[in-house]
Amino acid sequence: MSLVPTLLRWYDQSARDLPWRRPDATPWAVLVSEVMLQQTPVNRVRPAYEAWLARWPTPADLAAAAPAEAVRAWGRLGYPRRALRLHAGAVAIRDRFGGAVPADVDDLLSLPGVGAYTARAVAAFAFGQRVPVVDTNVRRVVARAVSGLGAAGPPSETRDLAAVEALLPAAPARAARFSVAVMELGALICVARQPRCSACPLADQCAWRSAGYPAYDGPAIRPQRFEGTDRQVRGLLMAVLRDASEPVPQPRLDAVWADPVQRQRALDSLVVDGLVDPLPDGRYALPA
Ligand code: ADE
Repeated sequence: MSLVPTLLRWYDQSARDLPWRRPDATPWAVLVSEVMLQQTPVNRVRPAYEAWLARWPTPADLAAAAPAEAVRAWGRLGYPRRALRLHAGAVAIRDRFGGAVPADVDDLLSLPGVGAYTARAVAAFAFGQRVPVVDTNVRRVVARAVSGLGAAGPPSETRDLAAVEALLPAAPARAARFSVAVMELGALICVARQPRCSACPLADQCAWRSAGYPAYDGPAIRPQRFEGTDRQVRGLLMAVLRDASEPVPQPRLDAVWADPVQRQRALDSLVVDGLVDPLPDGRYALPA
């Protein structure tokens, strides 16, 4: 039996009311939300998303701003290269697409910072197209409900897209709604560690459940550590630069982390990423 009607009914009753899912969310708003949600939880994205769109309601508005302003507004969302890419994406949308977010998957893929997931998420959620939208949550739901495995194996773009495509209902709008419903199930019920199977609308149809919940026996999936990593040091350095109204002298950056080797490595990587500009006078600034 198809998972589609059960899942759509569940979604209608149980989905969270998130601003980027409302009918008035523009394609630009959907793109901004998807880039922010790539690596940051919903609750932290919400305020940043609202502030971002209030300030830059169209791609042309962001394209007209300095990259430094995008990085500053990114705040503490993490992985700040996404701010630079979103800015570059806005410039490309202005210059190559007349200021309108394109609807075509290949056009979306041509934008900086837009990969297989984001391109299809925008095509489906902003333009109501029938395209497979595959993120970690979707991969896990399909692995369990359809393949009877406890967790998804290593990602393969071709295989994953085909597996999800095969589940999509024929009508585009329904397919798009199904896609967000699968994501929501993976986010709220079919979660990685303690799935809430007793509350799952697909429990009766789930291949993993009917197989008796065989344990995942693939390669270990290690949670990402943050404390003590270069990523933490990069975050501390970026916070100093974001909060400063002027370029920052080296000693202010030196104060954030005791280990000079790791600190320098983090700073160098930010310069390489274009997130930090080393000025000729020895100070450091956000990118002009
Ligand atoms: N709704 C649409 N896309 C989403 C995402 N990436 N995360 C959470 N909710 C969403």
